[in-house]
Amino acid sequence: MFLPLLFMVFISVKAVEQNVSCPYVTPREVDLKELDGKWHLAAVATDLDIKGDCATILFNHKTNNTTDVSISWIVDNTVSFYNGSVALTVDGDNGGDLLLVTYTDKKSETYSILDVNYEHYAVIFACYNNSDGNTSTYELWKLTRMPHVKKIDSTKIDQAVANYNLQNTPFLYFNNTEDSCRINIGSDLNPSSWILTSTAAITLFRRLY
Ligand SMILES: *[C@@H]1O[C@H](CO)[C@@H](O)[C@H](O)[C@H]1NC(C)=O
Ligand SMILES: *[C@@H]1O[C@H](CO)[C@@H](O)[C@H](O)[C@H]1NC(C)=O
Ligand SMILES: *[C@@H]1O[C@H](CO)[C@@H](O)[C@H](O)[C@H]1NC(C)=O
Ligand SMILES: *[C@@H]1O[C@H](CO)[C@@H](O)[C@H](O)[C@H]1NC(C)=O
Ligand SMILES: *[C@@H]1O[C@H](CO)[C@@H](O)[C@H](O)[C@H]1NC(C)=O
Ligand SMILES: *[C@@H]1O[C@H](CO)[C@@H](O)[C@H](O)[C@H]1NC(C)=O
Ligand SMILES: *[C@@H]1O[C@H](CO)[C@@H](O)[C@H](O)[C@H]1NC(C)=O
Repeated sequence: MFLPLLFMVFISVKAVEQNVSCPYVTPREVDLKELDGKWHLAAVATDLDIKGDCATILFNHKTNNTTDVSISWIVDNTVSFYNGSVALTVDGDNGGDLLLVTYTDKKSETYSILDVNYEHYAVIFACYNNSDGNTSTYELWKLTRMPHVKKIDSTKIDQAVANYNLQNTPFLYFNNTEDSCRINIGSDLNPSSWILTSTAAITLFRRLY
């Protein structure tokens, strides 16, 4: 009982608590249309239970000016989703744009963008001051358009993170390799992994056993 619990503490990355209050984020205008499309998650520090080595975020901007978001991750070639909708809201402190994401389970979170180059990368941040007045809790997301982070982008991302003194964040990294990003559908079906991932097959296997 004790050991698995200890193990979990080491492998799961949570929102991070820091001993200073939330940094002042330089106000920025956000263009939801430009954010549209698929992003790969390069690294994250969040309470969301994202697993595996391949994770993506899809922003889907609709013609009626609404935007859906879908966070997905792949474990054993099986994809899981956490979906929601995005609205822009104005930061009362600095007048910049914030992303207000309402997830399908009714949880919501307000994110600011620390830096973005819509064609290449985005650094997304959520932070709450704790009630003690001098500590805060934050989440940090590094998004890239390419599955593998290019050197020039990673320099920009690291700079954005360091600008807010968040460089010591314990990140969970995703390598987004072709293998780990493969989903078993249709003709891609691989019999050996199918046995592992299909609940029906597992049930059948147990019955036969
Ligand atoms: C705050 O945390 C940093 C790094 O985690 C540490 O170096 C620093 O001494 C801490 N400051 C205080 C006042 O506790
Ligand atoms: C957190 O507290 C600091 C210092 O009091 C303040 O400047 C900042 O605006 C607060 N940030 C948030 C997100 O509440
Ligand atoms: C916008 O369009 C989508 C489908 O394209 C629909 O599901 C959604 O309800 C619409 N939202 C509004 C506010 O009209
Ligand atoms: C779409 O939404 C954005 C941000 O919410 C707003 O600034 C813009 O005016 C809207 N455009 C239309 C055509 O409704
Ligand atoms: C989440 O959104 C993705 C992409 O739009 C969709 O394929 C998937 O079925 C959705 N999943 C859930 C659980 O809503
Ligand atoms: C935070 O505030 C509490 C009470 O106001 C104080 O005791 C503590 O030393 C402060 N911690 C830091 C790191 O400033
Ligand atoms: C990601 O790649 C690095 C370097 O190639 C490797 O050390 C690490 O184990 C990989 N992570 C996962 C989860 O496969």
